[in-house]
Amino acid sequence: MRSESGITEELVLRLGRARNMVVFTGSGVSRESGVPTFRGEDGLWQEHRPEELATLEAFERNPEVVWRWYDYRRRLIAEVRPNPAHEAIARLEGAFDVFTLVTQNVDGLHARAGSTRTVELHGNIWRARCMGDQDVFDLLENPLSEIPPRCKRCGSLLRPDVVWFGEPMPPEAYDASYEAASSCDAMLVVGTSALVRPAASLPLVAKHNGAFVIEVNITYTPISVLIDASLIGKAGEVVPELVERLLRVVGEARESAPSPGGVKEHARP
Ligand code: APR
Repeated sequence: MRSESGITEELVLRLGRARNMVVFTGSGVSRESGVPTFRGEDGLWQEHRPEELATLEAFERNPEVVWRWYDYRRRLIAEVRPNPAHEAIARLEGAFDVFTLVTQNVDGLHARAGSTRTVELHGNIWRARCMGDQDVFDLLENPLSEIPPRCKRCGSLLRPDVVWFGEPMPPEAYDASYEAASSCDAMLVVGTSALVRPAASLPLVAKHNGAFVIEVNITYTPISVLIDASLIGKAGEVVPELVERLLRVVGEARESAPSPGGVKEHARP
């Protein structure tokens, strides 16, 4: 059975057989909430230069300009809500023995939708790091009353706790995502251009280790030819349909599985 979005019964069954599932997301998953992506026609990098806003050098040169940009994005993100794609991904968590959501997004919308088993590869816009002692903590004030904000304890400058160009990913997050990608049976990639490495190589790590890998995107990406299937459409439409069908298949398989004692649940008196 083939639906509008290209979701076939076979594809759903393949995903449903996984015991260890990874969902890997990029900014496209938040697009329908109203958060701009980075690349593409209305992407942030059309209007802004990454080297002036998203590097340590830019921050050291002009922390006020960088913080004003982050303050603007924080205000925008605070006003939007998770969309049906975030919500569907949160519903998937309980359906697999092992489940990991790996996101490149810093907006925190997955958590607001209810996801808990999440690895944030590029940090989180609602946290800050002290440039003095490197302490990391929540910075939820919105809008910020002081720009650039300073550490209340030592007075040093604070920076957003996000990964900028030229910076390594936090080692624990990178290790956890690499481990998840290399051990999963299936990976669902949603809304990423798959251009920024090393994060973008995670689908290929999964594929190389034998996982069934599919993507949901409004367009084909550089990884499309290397993975098992591309579902072309909006995340907020395709992901909920896919998840609903997947949950049905997983639920049916659980019901027909033998109970621990070897007797089928429904056969009990
Ligand atoms: N549904 C699905 N996909 C979408 C949608 C949508 N509604 N809207 C846009 N997309 C896709 C685009 O086609 C594109 O492939 O989302 C992708 C967004 O790509 P990028 O803007 O490059 O975002 P991302 O892949 O998350 O970027 C990775 O680059 O600058 C950085 O640190 C930033 O984490 C970010 C990283």
